[in-house]
Amino acid sequence: MKRIALYCQLLIFPLALCLPFVFAQHGKTDPRMQKQSFGKLPDGTQADLYILRNKNGMEVDITNYGADVVSIKVPDRHGKIEDVALGYDNLEGYIHDKAYFGATVGRYANRIAHGSFKLHGRVYTLPKNNGDNTLHGGTSGFNKRLWKAEDVSTPEAAAVQMSYLSKNGDQGFPGNLSVNVRFTLADDNSLKIEYAATTDKDTVVNLTNHSYFNLAGQGKGDILGQELQLHASRFTPVNANLIPTGQISPVKGTPLDFTRSTAIGARINADFEQLKLGHGYDHNFVIDGNPMRKMALAARAYDPGSGRVLEIWTTQPGIQFYSGNFLDGTVAGKGGVKYGRRSAFALETQHFPDSPNQPNFPTTELKAGRWFRSTTVYKFSTQ
Ligand code: BGC
Repeated sequence: MKRIALYCQLLIFPLALCLPFVFAQHGKTDPRMQKQSFGKLPDGTQADLYILRNKNGMEVDITNYGADVVSIKVPDRHGKIEDVALGYDNLEGYIHDKAYFGATVGRYANRIAHGSFKLHGRVYTLPKNNGDNTLHGGTSGFNKRLWKAEDVSTPEAAAVQMSYLSKNGDQGFPGNLSVNVRFTLADDNSLKIEYAATTDKDTVVNLTNHSYFNLAGQGKGDILGQELQLHASRFTPVNANLIPTGQISPVKGTPLDFTRSTAIGARINADFEQLKLGHGYDHNFVIDGNPMRKMALAARAYDPGSGRVLEIWTTQPGIQFYSGNFLDGTVAGKGGVKYGRRSAFALETQHFPDSPNQPNFPTTELKAGRWFRSTTVYKFSTQ
């Protein structure tokens, strides 16, 4: 009997000692951060996919090609997880993408009129890729670059930092611009994006993320029944080229008034000039109470079907609400789904469009040696 007890002790003690390692190994099979290959660029360079997870089963996939958010998987009110971001299954899709699905947009998000701006008396000429305008940084914006990625996760949250050096003269912009974009997925179901950029020569900069959301799930029809609230009592009206006229106008009494939560489709076809010019909503809204660049709630979207809620908090002064008017069902996205007109919305936190040519707008100039910083949080919940 004694001998059996001794054998048991001899067996149990080492087993007990091994337990922490067994758990650690188990943890390794399901970490908060996982990295895998996302495919090869035409020159043979590999792009990677970073998979961030939190304790609620929320998952955000980000590739260092374009520092693109590839998918955002979040639960609905019954806990059913669905990918709410439009995109592609593979790198190939992002290489050919023209819609900026999930993209980090730079150097200058949104439009610059006539593909040119003046800074300190000198005229800078940019490639025109949107009629007479430069859109989202030019013909080869930051979304077409391979970024350097670093796992910067902490015990609290999975995080990845993307870095890119845009050389002096890149797409016509002055200064060597060094950019870092850090994505953090926290346990409160928020995805935080922190931007930092510095230059060695005075330049202009406007960075955003161009995720397209469908809170019912990507590929699940249009977003016209989803509700939106914008904490914006003013917007910047545009001309026929979607360039701001320079005015800052009240939304009150117009179909652009989203100060109360309203279905996106409720007034989208109203007989209103700004909606006709935008082919729907494609406007920059001025976020209320945010001139001090403090973190402010800019937008709240809600899908009555799934119960998913998306809140957008930002330090930026503006938010472009784009109702996916130019999606036309020709592009095959994830799982081969054709994304039709208004099958997603984008809410791009940013400085106002064409600011380098608009003396009335908050400046987008970044002085040599100084840092540009901004933060945007996409917070998901259910109702
Ligand atoms: C613009 C739209 C454009 C879309 C894709 C949005 O930021 O406001 O006009 O079609 O990006 O480029």
